[in-house]
Amino acid sequence: MLFCDYRYGESAPQIQVRQAGGLHMRRNTVNKLSRRVTFLALSTFVAGSCLVLAPGAWAKGSAKAGKSTFDAKCAMCHAMNGSGNSPMGKSMRVPDLRSKAVQKQSDAEIAGLIENGKGMMPKYGSQLSKQEISDLVAYIRELGSKKK
Ligand code: HEC
Repeated sequence: MLFCDYRYGESAPQIQVRQAGGLHMRRNTVNKLSRRVTFLALSTFVAGSCLVLAPGAWAKGSAKAGKSTFDAKCAMCHAMNGSGNSPMGKSMRVPDLRSKAVQKQSDAEIAGLIENGKGMMPKYGSQLSKQEISDLVAYIRELGSKKK
């Protein structure tokens, strides 16, 4: 599923690089051509399987993108790990984002909360795009799954 991230397009050049390295680049035309064909076939396969196996994956949040927004805008209150264990977080008694109480909510509920705010929690609907909010939700899920 992660493989079928909506930014799958970015992975295409990586495939090419890995291939080029693996083949030790004998610089003749046949080799270059076959590399190109393999690359094309691979990208078609990746794109194809994403479309077939995971329709709707395009709109899914990216935890990686969510992390940078979280670190910049949320960590001061929620702490880098989501625990709320920062000076601000402690003074505002922010909930642990990794806790069951937070994690049991649906993606839509968490997204709505980020969009509209709640109590001392600022609203972000006018600052962040829907995609950025989905990315944050994906990252909050990742934080939740990392808690031991
Ligand atoms: C100024 C401090 C502050 C900042 C910045 C902040 N939050 Fe919060 N957040 C809070 C507080 C306080 C609460 C508890 C709100 C309540 O329950 O009254 C909260 C609650 C939450 C909750 C849900 C808690 C629940 O009740 O389920 C989520 C999810 C959340 N914040 C995500 C974020 C995200 C994502 C960002 C960054 C875009 C962010 N917060 C930025 C203070 C902050």
